[in-house]
This record gives sequence, C-alpha cells and structure tokens, in this order.
Amino acid sequence: MKKTVAIDGPAGAGKSTIAKLVAEKLGYIYIDTGAMYRAVAWKVLDAGAGTTDEAIVRTAETLDVRLRFVGDAVRVFADDTDVTEAIRTPEVTALVSKVAQLGSVRSKMVELQRGMAKDGGVVMDGRDIASNVLPNADVKIFLTASIEERALRRWKEMKEKGYDEPMEKLKEEIAARDKADSEREISPLVRVPEAALLDTTGMTIDEVARKVMELCG
Ligand code: CDP
Repeated sequence: MKKTVAIDGPAGAGKSTIAKLVAEKLGYIYIDTGAMYRAVAWKVLDAGAGTTDEAIVRTAETLDVRLRFVGDAVRVFADDTDVTEAIRTPEVTALVSKVAQLGSVRSKMVELQRGMAKDGGVVMDGRDIASNVLPNADVKIFLTASIEERALRRWKEMKEKGYDEPMEKLKEEIAARDKADSEREISPLVRVPEAALLDTTGMTIDEVARKVMELCG
C-alpha cells in the first residue's frame, strides 16, 4: 500500500533533505509545502506592489503555484516562471512567514497540497502537515534540532549558494521564524501527540534517513 508520510518541524531541522531522500528510497513523490509559500512570497516581491496583507492576498489570489517534475527533479513554478532557486534568497526567507500567516493564502495552498496527496505515495514536509493538511497521514514525524545546529546547517546551505551570512543573523532569523510559525492563529507549527519526535542534533543525514525509514515501516 502506498502511504502518506507527514514530516513537520521548525526551520533548518533538515526536513527537506530527509523528506527528499526518503521519498526517493520509497519511490514516492516529495512535496515541499514550504516551497509553495516561498513561491507566493517571491511573487509578492517580484510584483513590487508592496508587502501589506492586502497586497499579498491580492497577488496570491491570481497566482498559479505548481510543483512540476522535470526529469527526476521537482521544480517550483510561479505562473510560468521557474522559481526553484529564486525562492531561497534571504529576501524571500524574510517575507515568507508573513505570507504564510494569511488565511486565504493558506487555504489555497492546503487545497493544492491535499490534491497532490490524494492517491498516497507522498512524503510531504512543512509545519501543519500532520495537524491540518493530512490529519490521516499513515506516518507522522516531528523533526527538530537545537537552534545552534539548525543555524549551522542553514549557514552551510547558504554558503554553498554563495551567501556568507553571519551566524548570529541566521540564528535570529530562524528564532523569529520559529516564533511567528508557532504563534500564528491559523494552523501553527505544533507536534501532534501521535507524531514521532526525532531530535536530529548531532545526527548525520544518513542516520536520520535510516530512522525515518524505520518509522515508515
Ligand atoms: O526550509 P525552511 O525550514 O527554511 O522553511 P520552509 O519549509 O521552506 O518554509 C518556509 C516558511 O513557510 C515557514 O517558515 C513557514 O512560515 C511557512 N510554511 C507554513 O506556514 N506551512 C507549511 N506547511 C510550510 C511552510
């Protein structure tokens, strides 16, 4: 039977790396819901009409966000623009949690996410997957790590992309995003009681992936 696997957790916990790897091993589709909110934030910045709630809602209303397979890789599209790389800039990261707090944006994204998961065989990562998007997921995992380790992982990731951001700044950005994501009114980041808690501090990618595969049965 093709299962649905929900992986939630705070910024920099390694969700996307692990979810992608596990999806590959299981022959499932990987759905990066954060990338969808990031695509909306990218479009808001690109449109240049400001970042008020009204401007965000208006932009999101007409935007077509899509995850498309190009060969084996998943690419993120905002209308017809491939924004896979563009959604990882510090500017998009700084705006995304504001975008993700808005009810109309969330309902549009959640509907798309449920549609993609309807036949099973998916590993979906985000903040509200087990609690809201796929409450009946077969496997629920909450992935976390210490803030120091998460900031270090993000620093390495950004360094590879050519950004050299001070560690303290990254730590502050992550802490601010954790706070915004956990305290928002609609679908905040929570660990549902039935989710397996996996603290990945000090674990290698392989170790985490092995543990998640075990949990997938
Ligand atoms: O990769 P990183 O941990 O930096 O974040 P992400 O997974 O790309 O998600 C970016 C942002 O989108 C999060 O900080 C949340 O504000 C929002 N998000 C959300 O609200 N719900 C989700 N299911 C996924 C992401």
